[in-house]
Amino acid sequence: MASETGHLRVVDSRTEKGYLVPIYDNHINAKDLSAITILDGEVSEKLRVLDNGFETTACMDSAITFIDGKRGQVMYRGIPIQDVFRDNDFEDVLHLLLWSRLPTKEEKLAVRAAVFAASTPPQSVINTIKAFPPTAETYPMIIAGISAFIAIDADAANTRHQHSPLFHGNLEVADAAILRTIGYYSAVVGLVHCHKRGLKFHTPEPNRSLIGNLLIMMGKFDPKTGTGPDPTIEKCLSKLWICYADHEMTNSTAALLHAASTLTDPISCVMAGLICGYGPLHGGAIDLAYEALEKIGHPRYVPVFIEMIKAKKARLFGYGHRIYKTRDPRLALIEDLIAQHQDLVSKDPLLEIALTIDKVANEDPYFVSRNLKANADLLGCFLYSALGFERDIIVPVICLSRVIGGLAHWRETLSQPIKLWRPLQVYSGPKVAPEAKSPTEGSISSNDFPIKNLADATAQTAYTPPKVSLRAKAAIWWMKRNSALVKS
Ligand SMILES: CC(C)(COP(=O)(O)OP(=O)(O)OC[C@H]1O[C@@H](n2cnc3c(N)ncnc32)[C@H](O)[C@@H]1OP(=O)(O)O)[C@@H](O)C(=O)NCCC(=O)NCCS
Repeated sequence: MASETGHLRVVDSRTEKGYLVPIYDNHINAKDLSAITILDGEVSEKLRVLDNGFETTACMDSAITFIDGKRGQVMYRGIPIQDVFRDNDFEDVLHLLLWSRLPTKEEKLAVRAAVFAASTPPQSVINTIKAFPPTAETYPMIIAGISAFIAIDADAANTRHQHSPLFHGNLEVADAAILRTIGYYSAVVGLVHCHKRGLKFHTPEPNRSLIGNLLIMMGKFDPKTGTGPDPTIEKCLSKLWICYADHEMTNSTAALLHAASTLTDPISCVMAGLICGYGPLHGGAIDLAYEALEKIGHPRYVPVFIEMIKAKKARLFGYGHRIYKTRDPRLALIEDLIAQHQDLVSKDPLLEIALTIDKVANEDPYFVSRNLKANADLLGCFLYSALGFERDIIVPVICLSRVIGGLAHWRETLSQPIKLWRPLQVYSGPKVAPEAKSPTEGSISSNDFPIKNLADATAQTAYTPPKVSLRAKAAIWWMKRNSALVKS
């Protein structure tokens, strides 16, 4: 806990009472504001803090990643990201984020072995993913695959049946679950990638790196030998992922921690984070950015597109960031990697369009005054494309690098006091009940029934029960009878 560096002198003009609110290292504890109260009739009400979108509210004490968006600084465990990037591979960074120090060779091998052991999917997971048409959206397949893994993980089940916390304060059990979660998610990405393309799924190999095994499971083999992971991709991702491994309290990390505060298992927490990660204003922005680039089609149409953005008829996805008011330091690292793979990257026809947009965004006052710059995820996508990753699978792969940071945050909570996240609201609705309707006014006639024809409504769903039990037959009879009543 940071020490007190000053205080706020607050006077509540409603009561003329004064308060001293301590400041710790440029933050106040919201709880200290709850000393500010007012009487509502007989009841004393604490002051609430309304912060839509959490623009000034911190929800965690964390020692993992430090970002100074004004000075363009990112640090992992106190080390500038540039140094981490220069001296390490992704497995080192995984260790650094999760366990606050760089690993020995033996520790790296132990992590590999644990992740490998969890990465071979059981039939139930394979069946779950294969149940989707290959043309389905990637995101629901990923979530279903994760869910199928939760169903077979004994610890995940135990969190719902044990009355004392399974992971909290029990870091050994937690660490094993963290490594299984990483293995599960890798396998799901590999399976989904293969299923969508009709590729044979290859099980991982012992002693391979996390990225090496992901590539094997995705069917991205060394083009020279046809076996083992593609070394160019493995080497490049091992650096690129360092840039994405954690980004302190993002929307998806907060979602993960929100789930974690209920003491659920880490796989479920990761699923909560992934659900946010796919939203259009977060990781999902990458898909939309690509779609926009494809629609623009040629650099000559960029000015028209830019005018639409400025007229607020569209949003420039992949641009803008809540915390960077200067250049994101990760961009320079990604640009270095792009330069190393220039021959591959320059083949992407969308790159020229993106660079033209970037040129305008760097000069036009609309973008400059709002600090709207390309974000690191968008830039990294050109590298993914150059390395042969298709658009539908880029976000899931980016999320795998971020899962590490998310799990580091989850692990951090296990040594902090248990606290269920339960935000408040500021109620702005009526406090007087609307006049009740008389029974005749309120009764529902057949014309109000939303489904006019039950047969039409059920025809829209693809589900046909394989076998109808007696109980189900009775229910169907009852529904048909009611539907006949509605029609009559
Ligand atoms: C990331 C993002 C949600 C951050 O939002 P924010 O910090 O809350 O910023 P706001 O939404 O309050 O926007 C501030 C101003 O910039 C504009 N703006 C922000 N992002 C913009 C974008 N990508 N394109 C066009 N205008 C944008 C807003 O319209 C607003 O303009 P105004 O001052 O005239 O009202 C936002 O920049 C965005 O929607 N970006 C596109 C989605 C994306 O790439 N997300 C990935 C983030 S990792």
